[in-house]
Amino acid sequence: MSSTLITGIGELVTCDGTSSDLLGIRSNAALVVEDDTIAWIGAAAEAPAADAKIDVGGRVIIPGFVDSHSHLVFAGDRAAEFAARMTGEPYDGGGIGVTVAATRAASDDELTRLLAGRIAELRALGTTTVEIKSGYGLTVADEVRALTIARQFTPEATFLGGHVVPAEYAHDRAAYVDLVTGPMLEAAGPYARWIDVFCEPHSPHAFDADEARQILKAGAAIGLGLRVHGNQLGPGPGVQLAVELAAASVDHCTFLDDADVDVLADAADTTVATLLPGVEFCTHSPYPDAARLLAAGVSIALASDCNPGTCYSSSMPWVISLAVREMGMTPAQALFAATAGSAKSLRRTDIGQLTVGNRADLAVLDAPTYLHLAYRPGVPIAHVLDLAISSQRASARP
Ligand code: NIG
Ligand code: FE
Repeated sequence: MSSTLITGIGELVTCDGTSSDLLGIRSNAALVVEDDTIAWIGAAAEAPAADAKIDVGGRVIIPGFVDSHSHLVFAGDRAAEFAARMTGEPYDGGGIGVTVAATRAASDDELTRLLAGRIAELRALGTTTVEIKSGYGLTVADEVRALTIARQFTPEATFLGGHVVPAEYAHDRAAYVDLVTGPMLEAAGPYARWIDVFCEPHSPHAFDADEARQILKAGAAIGLGLRVHGNQLGPGPGVQLAVELAAASVDHCTFLDDADVDVLADAADTTVATLLPGVEFCTHSPYPDAARLLAAGVSIALASDCNPGTCYSSSMPWVISLAVREMGMTPAQALFAATAGSAKSLRRTDIGQLTVGNRADLAVLDAPTYLHLAYRPGVPIAHVLDLAISSQRASARP
């Protein structure tokens, strides 16, 4: 076992949920990490000895971001679709078929290489946990392949055979739902922790409430946790369905009526509303009303939804700046939602909060206060703190 003492912390943001301030900020604090675990947190003046020491020079330490919604296993490019949207084309999910074709045509090595590049990109911006969905294969073999590749990078793999009805089933939707709930789930389920479905009456390609219910119930029956894409393109049944089935998360929540907000507030211990403001930015859509949800007592997470169609960015700092600028969240609420909140949506308490015994997933901000996450949009101030590399550097110092 090797231990590392981290000192020189300008602001330690714990998100520990027990302090009087939401972020549980400690000043003059230090932290000891043993292997992958936080072993000690306390006053820097009382820090115990450790095998190695890292001085972060007055920077901020936060829990690494938990990006609880992404679609990173894909090939191909849809930049032209994005450009068309910026001049007024609406998004209806039809472009997903373009990515499905490109992904099916890619080799395993190519998909793995592309995913590895995207993982490096998000780590460079401070993300330490990422959930990854399948959903651009939509055959038994291609969905299994996507999840196998995703599992090389994260335990938070989600089966999204219910992303859209692929073109070859457009005239027999029921047969596709049978495939997803039958042979596809049977083959893909063992590689996934979660099942998700795109429940959206405003897309001709996505699933209605009855189809989505069938898919989610089949996943629950083999022990998968539930997640739902809901209320993205207009009012719809996604939120109600997610709460009815005790899903861990309902994601997007862009168009909610009062009844949706009420059920989410009642279900706050079980179902998290995951907001994805990068999608609204990249699809020219109105933003979800986070302030209304927070006032009602809804549990909120922030995630990127990084995907080739509605948001090709995995930048959690950017998501935080959008949440603050466009959705009425305070910088503290946004950072909490991007760490502890998104961990809750994955039903994890070992990440997203810096407490003794938790995973030592740390990010460092090149800034004197966490406020800089929203204050310096687009500037790469957040990085994962790689303990091995940092302590080598520290010990190499004269
Ligand atoms: O979360 N809404 C459905 N799925 C993705 C978009 C996928 C795509 O357009 O490729 C989303 O926005
Ligand atoms: Fe998504």
